Amino acid sequence: MQEKYIDENKQGEAIATAERPDNSKKLFLESYGCQMNFSDSEIVASILNEQGYNTTQNVEEADLILLNTCSIREKAEQTVRMRLSQFKNLKKDKPSLTVGVLGCMAERLKTKFLEEEQLVDLVVGPDAYRDLPNLLKETDDGRDAINVILSKEETYADINPVRLGGNGVTAFVTITRGCDNMCTFCVVPFTRGRERSRDPHSIIEECKNLWESGYKEITLLGQNVDSYLWYGGGPKKDFKNATEMQRLTAITFSQLLDMVAVAVPKMRIRFSTNNPHEMTEEVFRMIAKHENICNYVHLPVQSGSDAMLVKMNRQHTRQEYLDLIKKGKEIVPEISFSQDMIIGFCGETEEDHQQTLSLMREVEYDYGYMFSYSERPGTPAHKKMEDDIPADVKQRRLAEVIALQGELSRKRMMGYVGRNHEVLIEGTSRKNENQWKGRNSQNAVCVFDKLEGQKLGDIVTIFVHGNTQGTLLGETV
Ligand code: SAH
Ligand code: F3S
Repeated sequence: MQEKYIDENKQGEAIATAERPDNSKKLFLESYGCQMNFSDSEIVASILNEQGYNTTQNVEEADLILLNTCSIREKAEQTVRMRLSQFKNLKKDKPSLTVGVLGCMAERLKTKFLEEEQLVDLVVGPDAYRDLPNLLKETDDGRDAINVILSKEETYADINPVRLGGNGVTAFVTITRGCDNMCTFCVVPFTRGRERSRDPHSIIEECKNLWESGYKEITLLGQNVDSYLWYGGGPKKDFKNATEMQRLTAITFSQLLDMVAVAVPKMRIRFSTNNPHEMTEEVFRMIAKHENICNYVHLPVQSGSDAMLVKMNRQHTRQEYLDLIKKGKEIVPEISFSQDMIIGFCGETEEDHQQTLSLMREVEYDYGYMFSYSERPGTPAHKKMEDDIPADVKQRRLAEVIALQGELSRKRMMGYVGRNHEVLIEGTSRKNENQWKGRNSQNAVCVFDKLEGQKLGDIVTIFVHGNTQGTLLGETV
């Protein structure tokens, strides 16, 4: 199963790009997990670019190996541990090689990492990347180095990310960092700290720069984009002390969308992730208002059962979620939704599970990201609840949920057949080099034969004549 939105075959892929010709040191940088990590890696590459490092895809020639890690489930952490063990021989052959761990595992395990993994020299949490130059001085002197201090302000707003390994067409733009939600199962609030929003001016500037560099689609990123709030400085938690003037001029997520859509009128705009308890109707209105905002919302729900939603501290009911979906479909008739589900959370009964299946049928998601519950140390669920659903029951329920999503996806894809779609050409199809792949506004992947004169980054009109479970098959009109 793939991690969210990041191509399965990109997980852990080392990414490289043309950088400063006079840089002599080589950085091998791999990212795991969510889009935010891939985006953060671009900030890290940018910071290290200034320090004499260019990226490489050849681990053998690296002076510095960095893994940007994920803690969301136990399996994600195991993957990183396994990857680290593969560097042992390299380090033996080249003692000057520095191996560092970035991101959520660094934050969660802190000095434990240095104790447990002899191989690791450097541990850096998601808010401490600006300190990398200093930390590398320490490792150059032969000492282990660590900075896992979380910040209430850091947004890296002024750092121009080095666009790594992309297609030159689609890019991520971070708008908020951290999360204050405290869903009981989730490790993110502990690894990524308090929520903070980025200055809208720097966001707009980055979007404009991307357009000028030839990018055609951006995804605005946050753990929880709906809680974006900018009122002229200071974290959201201080908003209660804001002045009258600051209150009146504060910028919300839907207003930010409006601003971005106007600033880059031909850029396709996507965003992720929305949170049902904070998302407003206004976001749907912005999708309807602007041609360039895509008709697609990723709206994680985790469970269709009210009892589970309470235990998970999701702060909305099943009905509220369904009402929001209904509003979305009313305001944007062409809208598509995708989901995240956690299967087999503490105390989940067969009835709760049926509620999840029935909610999925009601919403008719285009696709989803479904995983068994994985208990994470230190989370409220770990402290107060029992991970009591046997592994085989979790597996069976997960299989049922995945099978149903397969059915729904197929049905949704069939609904796109027989008409034209605007598709952004994002690359060559993996299966057939004579075909392009791209996505329609609803985020459905579409493949079609290449025609003379078509190129990466073009938006083309495609007549869709068929589909598989997850892909549309079409031809240029
Ligand atoms: N706000 C972020 C959440 C990041 S976690 C976002 O919505 O993108 C991404 C997904 O991982 C969550 O929506 C949830 O479905 C899943 N997840 C989080 N913690 C988990 C756990 N302990 N076990 C299994 N899945 C989990
Ligand atoms: Fe995690 Fe819930 Fe935030 S899933 S990232 S605590 S919205």
